[in-house]
Amino acid sequence: MSIQPLPFEIKDFVKKSESLRMQYRYLDLRSTQMQYNLRLRSQLVIKMREYLCNTHGFVDVETPTLFKRTPGGAKEFVVPSREPGRFYSLPQSPQQFKQLLMVAGIDRYFQLARCYRDESSKPDRQPEFTQVDIEMSFVEQSDIMTLVEGLLQSSWPLDKHPLSTPFQTITYETAMRNYGVDKPDTRFNMKLMDISHVLQSTEIQFLKSALNQTEGSIQAICVPNGAKHFECKDLEMLKQVAKTQFGQELSTVLVKADGTLKSALRKLLSIPATEKLLTSTGAKPGDLLLISASTLDTVRPLLGKLRLRCAELLESCGIPVRNPSLFHFLWVVDFPLFLPKDDDPWQLESAHHPFTAPVPDDRHLLYSQPHKVRGQHYDLVLNGCEIGGGSIRIHKASEQLYILQNILKEDPSLLSHLLEALDSGAPPHGGIALGLDRLVSIMVGAPSIRDVIAFPKSFRGYDLMSQAPEYVSEEDLRPYHISVTWPAARNEGGGGEEVNRRIMT
Ligand code: AMO
Repeated sequence: MSIQPLPFEIKDFVKKSESLRMQYRYLDLRSTQMQYNLRLRSQLVIKMREYLCNTHGFVDVETPTLFKRTPGGAKEFVVPSREPGRFYSLPQSPQQFKQLLMVAGIDRYFQLARCYRDESSKPDRQPEFTQVDIEMSFVEQSDIMTLVEGLLQSSWPLDKHPLSTPFQTITYETAMRNYGVDKPDTRFNMKLMDISHVLQSTEIQFLKSALNQTEGSIQAICVPNGAKHFECKDLEMLKQVAKTQFGQELSTVLVKADGTLKSALRKLLSIPATEKLLTSTGAKPGDLLLISASTLDTVRPLLGKLRLRCAELLESCGIPVRNPSLFHFLWVVDFPLFLPKDDDPWQLESAHHPFTAPVPDDRHLLYSQPHKVRGQHYDLVLNGCEIGGGSIRIHKASEQLYILQNILKEDPSLLSHLLEALDSGAPPHGGIALGLDRLVSIMVGAPSIRDVIAFPKSFRGYDLMSQAPEYVSEEDLRPYHISVTWPAARNEGGGGEEVNRRIMT
């Protein structure tokens, strides 16, 4: 019996806003769905531990969460220390520790590791989250992949379709070419098509100038029944995404029931060119073609994004595109070791992290054409979501130093402890980390990983129940040699920010 009226009724059909659910999380967790989610998560973890530690000889080792900055990768949270100017960092993952454990002779390491990343929150991202973290000595890529397939198969909930292994594998290049993303949702088709050859001799100006660029290409996707079901506002939304997120124009071609086209391109295309366009894309009456022309590194991600938007739109019209009860695991392999930085394309950054080893056949290119080197990096994708990533590591200090210093232009002194450890006789090693929250959220069909975490943070990284992060008095900050510079708005507006914080999710 409650001694006070509750802020909401604990009945599944009573709709509550997410901020209210977060504020009274202890009540929200009483719901049937949240009870199911947390109990399933617990069962999954028990079975994973059983598989790794009891059947396969893994050692569960805890690693510190007060550490120092790791160069490259996600932005880290800092924690003050009592020494002026010195800060700890919360680890974005136990990457360095697990490699050090291999040097230490713990040849099969496992941990349910809490990781921290100071990134904006998204439905599949939290500032603190959990990884099933694994590392092994004397292994190759295929050994890790087989281990993970067995791990998932053996821990898979009994109330779901059993998993069949091995999982499908595709290369990064194929993923980008066919789906425009490195984590493709392969439960449906609608692949990207290169139609540059079809419109090669076009006089249409924007297509012509795209083809004249290095790596310029005209690409299309065919949305079955898109012309039949999409409304003007839907086409407008797709064009807006192209414009605002990619700075690109998008051409839409609706194939009418009589086979004629409704499109701004209609008058510009000759009859043979129109026929060639329809036959090469397989577009039928009722279908919609989305066409974009630019460099490959723009046009592919753009159409990759629109492909997913179109699947959602069709589903909202009641057309089944993806089977929600299907779990489609996919390995993506042969990633480039380095990618150009977004803000400085002349500078390279690691596609995975700085500790990933090059593919042996490409090693010589490190010193001449590093952008052409493939990494021994593999990602595990489930229904279009990246649920795991790992690699075979560099185990030679000289190679690690070269990559840090000469290619990534990072300060190697930050990693002197790791370089020294590699020099003391490191076995070849590799591993992987599975994002436990993402895995469970897809298993239970939750729209966000917040639904499988007992006490998650809000979209802005707040704990709406306790109001963390909290202000700290000047007196409490003094031992850490920190003083806060308040933004002007707070000085003028008094406690307004506090009130806003309480209501914002
Ligand atoms: P990576 O950075 O790819 O690899 O992370 C591994 C997996 O962790 C999950 N993940 C997240 N889940 C929730 N919120 C986040 N903010 C978040 N960020 C990542 C994803 C991802 O696939 N140390 C390496 C692993 C290795 O090389 O062994 C690492 O952390 O599911």
